[in-house]
Amino acid sequence: MKMNLTQKIIYNHLDNEQKKIFLEKNGKVEEIDIKIDQTLTHDITAVMAYNAFEALELDRVKTEKSISYIDHNVLCTDHRTSDDHLFLKTIAQKYGIYYSTPGNGICHSVHISRFAIPGKTLLGADSHTASSGAIGMFAFGGGGVEVARAMAGLRIKLNMPKIIKVNLIGKLNGGVNTKDIALELLKKYSVKGGVGKVFEYAGEGLKHLEIPQRMTITNMGAEMGATTSIFPTDEITKEFFKAQNRLEDFTEFVADEGAIYDDEITIDMSKIIPLVACPSQPDNIADVNDEKFKDLKVSSVFIGSCTNASYGDIKKAAEILKGKKVSEDVELTIGISTRAIFLQLLEEGTIAELVKSGARITEIACGACDGIGGAPVSKGITVRTSNRNFKGRSGTVDAQIYLVSPEVAAATAITGKLTVANDVMSDVEKLNNILEPTEYVVDDSEIIKPLDLEKAKKIQIIRGDNIKPLPLNTKIPNELTIKVSLKTKDNISTDDITPNDANFSAMRSNIPEISKYAFSRIYPDFVTRAKEYGKSVIIGGENYGQGSSREHAAIAPMYLGVKAVIVKSIARIHKKNLINHGVVPMTFKNPDDYDKIEISDELSWNNMDEALEKGIISIKNITKNFTFEALIELSEEEKEIIKAGGLLPFIKETFKEA
Ligand code: F3S
Repeated sequence: MKMNLTQKIIYNHLDNEQKKIFLEKNGKVEEIDIKIDQTLTHDITAVMAYNAFEALELDRVKTEKSISYIDHNVLCTDHRTSDDHLFLKTIAQKYGIYYSTPGNGICHSVHISRFAIPGKTLLGADSHTASSGAIGMFAFGGGGVEVARAMAGLRIKLNMPKIIKVNLIGKLNGGVNTKDIALELLKKYSVKGGVGKVFEYAGEGLKHLEIPQRMTITNMGAEMGATTSIFPTDEITKEFFKAQNRLEDFTEFVADEGAIYDDEITIDMSKIIPLVACPSQPDNIADVNDEKFKDLKVSSVFIGSCTNASYGDIKKAAEILKGKKVSEDVELTIGISTRAIFLQLLEEGTIAELVKSGARITEIACGACDGIGGAPVSKGITVRTSNRNFKGRSGTVDAQIYLVSPEVAAATAITGKLTVANDVMSDVEKLNNILEPTEYVVDDSEIIKPLDLEKAKKIQIIRGDNIKPLPLNTKIPNELTIKVSLKTKDNISTDDITPNDANFSAMRSNIPEISKYAFSRIYPDFVTRAKEYGKSVIIGGENYGQGSSREHAAIAPMYLGVKAVIVKSIARIHKKNLINHGVVPMTFKNPDDYDKIEISDELSWNNMDEALEKGIISIKNITKNFTFEALIELSEEEKEIIKAGGLLPFIKETFKEA
């Protein structure tokens, strides 16, 4: 069988029985069950993941490498965040996990530089884990408990994705970034058009794209809801590994000639123009030069995040800002992606140039991308190189976020309105001469390596008083009468469900505390109602749970008694997180039924056990006196997980049986 990249990695990570079936069916299988080589977590998702891992009572992780990154909240405004970091450090030492210290860099940027390997699998407790697809890894996001499962050496089940070949031809013009390719794809596919798909890149245009540029594309595949995105390896990949002083990890990894894809598109990069994702969805795309932006007054600009804070990105922004000043109406904040790149830019004098232009350099962390620092003024217009522009994502609920490339961000910082690089520099093509270094600064001294087993056994895990146990659900009742505690609109993000900023992220290890704020930014009366009802159900629109993989968005409602969500459609990772915490994800068979249900309606079912098997349930709306049907689309294993009350009890049961 001629295989594409995705099929090759999947095939290589199946067991022998599945391999046979995969070949017999020419790759057209429904479900795959793959071995995970590497895992990653970051400080927001990690505490829940490692709490779950601890509960499995194993000596050590069973993966080739597992890495715990501290990159999201490094502000430590009180003891809670610092206590979380210490907990994560000791738990890493206890269980054979690498620990990347606060300040060492954003997980995806450090991972691709120091750990990612072509042809391997990576499961990360973060939706942008797909970033490592830029060097040919099958890297995808999941919930923390799923990562715990992978760390325990258990396989991970996925629906076999559809594989879309994206042919890149031509070359980007100066002042245009691969961010604009990602935004062009979002315009075509929307925030849900990538669901169940892998975007596999190919074409003669690849020879013009360096690894961090490819990473911007794989990173933002997450915004389309894609399972992951992947590039083949080539000479440029090899040069990247050489520049990172780990050539031994490079392998040639290309699709077979004549491999089959489910669909194919072509993008001529020479035709791509600077684009902007307008508030408050990443697929609300417009041309930066559109007349409608001419009076838009920008109050802050952020150049940073795992999407666009690479060496090349920052150098290009610095070139645009060179010898100029940031507008006095704009606050420019720059967050470099890794400590190594920061050091390199510092030694080359680039940081000095940026500071002279008026930029403020923030911590080497996610920071402003996640609303942890750099929050705009009330009703502010903020222009950012990050990947999400949901309401509240910047930390200011009524701010408007516009997503752009570093080139547009730098030009905008100078003029105070949306501006392309062409308008502030005479020879924009010279930006194309800025290349990645042939030798990166390599310094792994802030990555603490795992201890050997004997030493690890002696490590005491230090748990701060804010770290509470992971709450567990109970099995969904066969018969239940339950009230609707919330009805949401379309495109609810996990940021909407459990907010992300510095305040909230300090509560990440304390579900009883963080659950008090579930939906608080958009539906402030939800928590009171959910508590009053005891057990309840949420009604949702399209693409419910899009965005970050944040597991808290499933755990907090579960903790408040939510037993099921009934929605028009649901994002992949959030659906998995709900299942993993025993909450039944249902979709309306007839989406028009959504309009007939209101908050406080009383719903009832009397055959959940049978419905889980059949994949469909009949629900009576007692208040409005009508009956509707909802689909419960679960794999065989997911049914068992729901019946066990969640993934953790399910895995425990599996271990007991083994
Ligand atoms: Fe961090 Fe933002 Fe990326 S929160 S992992 S920089 S999407």
